[in-house]
Amino acid sequence: MWFVVLLFSLAQAHARHVGEIVCRQCGATITRQSELHNLTGVDVNQLQYEYDFPLVGKTTTVHVLKNPQGHKFHVFGAKTAHLHFHGKPESHDTWYPGFKWTICQCKACSRHMGWYFEPERKMTTTDPDIPDRSFIGLVLENVISADYVNTLTKVPDF
Ligand SMILES: *[C@@H]1O[C@H](CO)[C@@H](O)[C@H](O)[C@H]1NC(C)=O
Ligand SMILES: [Zn+2]
Repeated sequence: MWFVVLLFSLAQAHARHVGEIVCRQCGATITRQSELHNLTGVDVNQLQYEYDFPLVGKTTTVHVLKNPQGHKFHVFGAKTAHLHFHGKPESHDTWYPGFKWTICQCKACSRHMGWYFEPERKMTTTDPDIPDRSFIGLVLENVISADYVNTLTKVPDF
């Protein structure tokens, strides 16, 4: 009986990590493959460039953006994420016109993970290039795929 239980818990532990995106600093779960969402509606004057990046088995659009302090960020989108909101929503200097942003941190270690973007007012757009609901912009450099972490920590099998 204990053997069956052990197998079951191993299978569960593995399933938890499939397609997961975790904090690069502490390993806390941030989001997962099914939540990935290509960013749209960027202010082209603030967009340095964009590219497609393979992440946890999907292709995701990355926007390279600069803040007014001159820091460059590689940002990808998710519908939801496990994050702590830091401070109040701000409307100035937004990268996504019509959306205010709130700084988001890792819930476990407080590392900056990205921003929560929410519409300034209820949107009634039919333009497919303009998002009509809130989304998360995550900093690519601050996260890592859990599957990739597992390959790094796996003990060689002799
Ligand atoms: C994002 O767009 C690319 C094409 O640029 C597409 O291949 C990919 O499937 C899209 N990803 C998502 C998560 O919709
Ligand atoms: Zn963390």
